[in-house]
Amino acid sequence: MTATMPQAAVGASLSPAAVARIRADFPILQERPHGKPLIFLDSAASSQKPVQVIEAMDDYYRRYHANIHRGIYHISELATEAYEEARSAIARFIGSPCSAECIFVRNATEGINLVAYSWGRSNVRAGDVILLTEMEHHSNLVPWQMLAQEKGARLRFVPVTADGRLDMNRLDTLLDGARLFAFTAVSNTLGTINPVRELCLRARAAGAVSVVDACQAVPRMPVDVTQWQCDFAAFSSHKMLGPTGIGVLWGRKDLLDAMPPFLTGGGMINVVRYDRTTFADVPARFEAGTPAIAEAVGLGAAVAYLTAVGMERVARYEHELAALALEKLRGIGQVVVYGPGIEHRTGVISITVGDIHAHDLASILDREGICVRAGHHCNQPLMEKLGVPATTRASFYLYNTPDEIDALIAGLEKAKRIFKLT
Ligand SMILES: Cc1ncc(COP(=O)(O)O)c(C=O)c1O
Repeated sequence: MTATMPQAAVGASLSPAAVARIRADFPILQERPHGKPLIFLDSAASSQKPVQVIEAMDDYYRRYHANIHRGIYHISELATEAYEEARSAIARFIGSPCSAECIFVRNATEGINLVAYSWGRSNVRAGDVILLTEMEHHSNLVPWQMLAQEKGARLRFVPVTADGRLDMNRLDTLLDGARLFAFTAVSNTLGTINPVRELCLRARAAGAVSVVDACQAVPRMPVDVTQWQCDFAAFSSHKMLGPTGIGVLWGRKDLLDAMPPFLTGGGMINVVRYDRTTFADVPARFEAGTPAIAEAVGLGAAVAYLTAVGMERVARYEHELAALALEKLRGIGQVVVYGPGIEHRTGVISITVGDIHAHDLASILDREGICVRAGHHCNQPLMEKLGVPATTRASFYLYNTPDEIDALIAGLEKAKRIFKLT
């Protein structure tokens, strides 16, 4: 890696000087869409990339690109080492005791599908219950619907309360008879932080395997899968400063060892004959074909970057930005904020403003250089429950600033003036 790492920020959160240093690492923040400074408030969809990640991938392609695990020559060994080092870095980052528990997949969606196809099709039977929550992203809903249809299993849902939290009172009843409980650690629409450890422990006590959609958690807070006591967790690199095209499925080693392959072909075998095949151990068993090598290198660099900043600081800083945004949003009439109070949420804030359509609002903000998400956020059933077709979502990350929140508020005021809302 050629660029220097950010200095760890002093104090509990990130100081303005630390944020300024971080911002300098993100080339895209120099862009000026519509002649305005780029204000990127859509990191929950996909984060921006620091120069350290971009350069690590560039360096790989320039100096040691080769296929891995096969070549008996120097640059292939370098590529293999970098790929496996990225796996070890991920394992350390999420508190996994063993790097073989980290399977590289394309994204969180593929990780969840891997569990549904491999573990699910071997273990879920007719009449079994698959427990989900009402706040799941489509990626943690549709694979389970497909499995339930195929196996004749039943889906149940932990309700979301009026203040955007999981209704824990119903949990034990809902877990009764459940084979599997799949839930998100952090809601991508409401910003709710769920009590993951408690949910996993209660699932285990009820005899259910837990699958955590950690897509919005790993980028923005310290995550320790051992402390969580989960059985599986899936997340995507592109939301945590890394490249697109790679993600991680973490699984408990004993569960992974007992699971049949998902995708098959080269790289995942032990011995192949014309009529039969034996399979490699994990993680190779679940990494068929040439993997995303450059992307693994980039993800490794992203993990190094976040580690140098410190995940506690990232979490605290994002929380501070969220608190500031909520306070300022309260000062604007006709704004409805969805989700819980600040003590239960992270920097993902969904709003509606009067009857302005979310797409109109996002277009007006875009003219101010502000990027927000508008739509159903892959949460259509939750939108239906909230009684809105769409929301506008602002999400903050370590490179955002209080000034950018002021710009967001000014943009919302402008939208209200255009739509003649008082
Ligand atoms: C909570 C949650 N789960 C799953 C996903 C799916 O991630 P990916 O599209 O990277 O597979 C997302 C992406 O927005 C998400 O926010």
